[in-house]
Amino acid sequence: MVDLHDVRYVRIGSEDLDTSVRFAVDVLGLELMERDATSAYLRGDDRDHNICYVKGREHGTATGWEVASIAELDAAAADFEARGIPVHHGTSEERERRRVRGMITVRDTSGNVIELVARPMASGRRYFPSRDAGITAFSHVGLHTRHAPSDEAFWVRNLGAKVSDWIGDAALLRVNDIHHNVALFPSQRSGIQHVNFQVESQDDIMRSWYFLERSNVKIVFGPGRHPTSGARFLYFQGPDDIIYEYSNGVRTITAEDELTYVPRSFPLEPISFCMWGSLPDIPEFRSALNAA
Ligand SMILES: [Fe+2]
Repeated sequence: MVDLHDVRYVRIGSEDLDTSVRFAVDVLGLELMERDATSAYLRGDDRDHNICYVKGREHGTATGWEVASIAELDAAAADFEARGIPVHHGTSEERERRRVRGMITVRDTSGNVIELVARPMASGRRYFPSRDAGITAFSHVGLHTRHAPSDEAFWVRNLGAKVSDWIGDAALLRVNDIHHNVALFPSQRSGIQHVNFQVESQDDIMRSWYFLERSNVKIVFGPGRHPTSGARFLYFQGPDDIIYEYSNGVRTITAEDELTYVPRSFPLEPISFCMWGSLPDIPEFRSALNAA
């Protein structure tokens, strides 16, 4: 089975590229790497890019996941096809647009677009932020899932992910030693729900909290602390119906921990999302909590 190294990028269909880029640069604190008439590439770490905004909401969203080599990508494609999972092989233009040498696409049972890539472009230049938000890395994504159990099974059986914890039916999954690289939130739709950047310290979270409030950005959850990953967090609303998150202190589950680690099942209660008592103003979290 394929071995995903890490989440590499997200692609987000944008209603208005100028608005998305302005938010990412002036509010989120990303570096604009490249911009043309239809796409904008931004980053919060030393990789080539973490987010590509694509002109037009109709493009939807996609997540990109790195595998170690073209040979592994080819093996993954053959494995998916053997399992009856439709595979799209990226065209040269699609690979060029993603700054990768190899690319295949599969979809989970909700229709979330999952791109597996090999040899993504590296960057010799260090990340130079437009706003000092304290970002250290692009770290994980939250996905809407219309079929939580079958999407969870898709990630575990076909993509080699492991469940770290559950909150109700929401699975927090890892593909490396970070507690979660992807979280699947039961929802009425598919697509990216939130995009996470790690920040250096809790001070950065609190500084950004005041900054975002002054900038009239809607805070949708936090400041708080997840009892699952242990991370301190702040979630806020961005354009194109995407929520962004800063967090710090996410736990790791190392190869040694793997020997004894058992995923935990947290009840669907506010305290399972925030151990400090912050209440989410996020539709998927609220409706799940109301249903419970
Ligand atoms: Fe998150």
